[in-house]
Amino acid sequence: MADTWQKYLEDNRSRLLNELIEFLSIPSASAVPENAADVERAGAWLAAKLARVGIEHAAVLPTGGHPVVYGDWLHAPGKPTFLIYGHFDTQPVDPLSLWHTPPFEPTITDDRIIARGASDDKSNLFLPIIAAEALLATTGRLPVNIKFFFEGQEEVGSPQLPSFVRAHRDMLACDAMLNADSGQYSETDGAVMVGLRGICSVEVDLVGPAHDLHSGVFGGAVQNPLHAMVMLLDSMRSHDGRILVDGFYDDVVELSAAERAAMARLPFDEQRYKADLGVTELFGEPGYSPYERTTIRPTLELNGLWGGFIGEGSKTVLPSEAHAKITCRLVPNQNPDRIIDLLTAHIMGHTPPGVRARVTRGHGTVAYTVPADLPAYAAVRDVLRRVYGHEPFEVRSGGSVPVTALFLDVLGAHSLGFGFGLEDELAHAPNEFFRLSSFDKGQRAWALLFERLAE
Ligand code: BES
Ligand code: MN
Repeated sequence: MADTWQKYLEDNRSRLLNELIEFLSIPSASAVPENAADVERAGAWLAAKLARVGIEHAAVLPTGGHPVVYGDWLHAPGKPTFLIYGHFDTQPVDPLSLWHTPPFEPTITDDRIIARGASDDKSNLFLPIIAAEALLATTGRLPVNIKFFFEGQEEVGSPQLPSFVRAHRDMLACDAMLNADSGQYSETDGAVMVGLRGICSVEVDLVGPAHDLHSGVFGGAVQNPLHAMVMLLDSMRSHDGRILVDGFYDDVVELSAAERAAMARLPFDEQRYKADLGVTELFGEPGYSPYERTTIRPTLELNGLWGGFIGEGSKTVLPSEAHAKITCRLVPNQNPDRIIDLLTAHIMGHTPPGVRARVTRGHGTVAYTVPADLPAYAAVRDVLRRVYGHEPFEVRSGGSVPVTALFLDVLGAHSLGFGFGLEDELAHAPNEFFRLSSFDKGQRAWALLFERLAE
């Protein structure tokens, strides 16, 4: 009877696409205070959709910050329970001027739907809902027990999620989490995502003179906080990309030669990679491939740097302050709190004379690795093999999804990515898009996965 839901998906294709358009039209950018009500509205839209397809207890639940959405279908006695995760918040749209079409007026051209949140993560989280709809509509049931859990604050580091998850352990209990905030290798190759990096963030303020100074009258006699910041930041990373913070690499686990050889077997076209990114040369830690540098090696990146006069023209000012935002991507066994301690010690120990440093600790999450014997792992592999016609690659991702470590810690539940985004879909950038071919493929893949998980 497998072709029954298949036919349902074909027959309902244009309506489901219209629903995606409606969902993508809600400007749920979680970092933008004026969009808070829209984040809530995107949650309400999802909860209503879940209820319509026959998912029970569908509701928007408060967290103290942006809300979450929950719904379940638990009528498969003796079968395992899977929690499906995704996020309905998006990144902000800016710089708006670089969009070719309005970010919250989804536009379809060729095989693409263009909108903020199209790839990360609204289309992706919609796919398992559609699969559940097709199965419920054609068979009256789901093959396994399913809990849907979507958050509205992933793109701002999930500040209220830990306390919400701790307070709702029973509601969220599951055998494993399936993470729809994930992707595949290419249009023709599947990927099992076996690892995500951790992350930690800090903000640095350097404060010099009590107020801005005339750079002619005082320049030369007083430390300039912007120059001090440049020196400080330069002391943190070597010019070839090694991190110079004492102790930073202490806990990093080196991979075995066999593991690295397996990574090297993944197809990688360096010329095309450079062309896609618009760079003439790659950069990074000596001794590691680009793929290794972005997955199994930790990094330190400056995300923002400001101070002084940045308006049009020139202003002869010696600014009183300088600021920097830094994040580090972490690998297994590195502890975000300890790394923030090390960064703080480095900053305090390398602050040039004439300024005072202040470090504000940000969010942090440990790296996540999928255990190879996770039962869902074999199921995901099988389904991807069927959908793509050959074995999926095992792929590590350089990104971070804080809920993975949180679920393992609080619920004891492991997770596995099952999403259909591709790396070139401009997530977090102007003109983000999702492929319609992935929209079709993903619905079918989720339905197959529901069936396979029951075996
Ligand atoms: N979807 C991404 C994470 C991701 C990227 C997973 C690439 C797999 C491949 C997610 O929405 C994201 O951007 N997360 C943030 C987390 C941060 C705000 C704590 C990230 O990785 O920067
Ligand atoms: Mn994202």
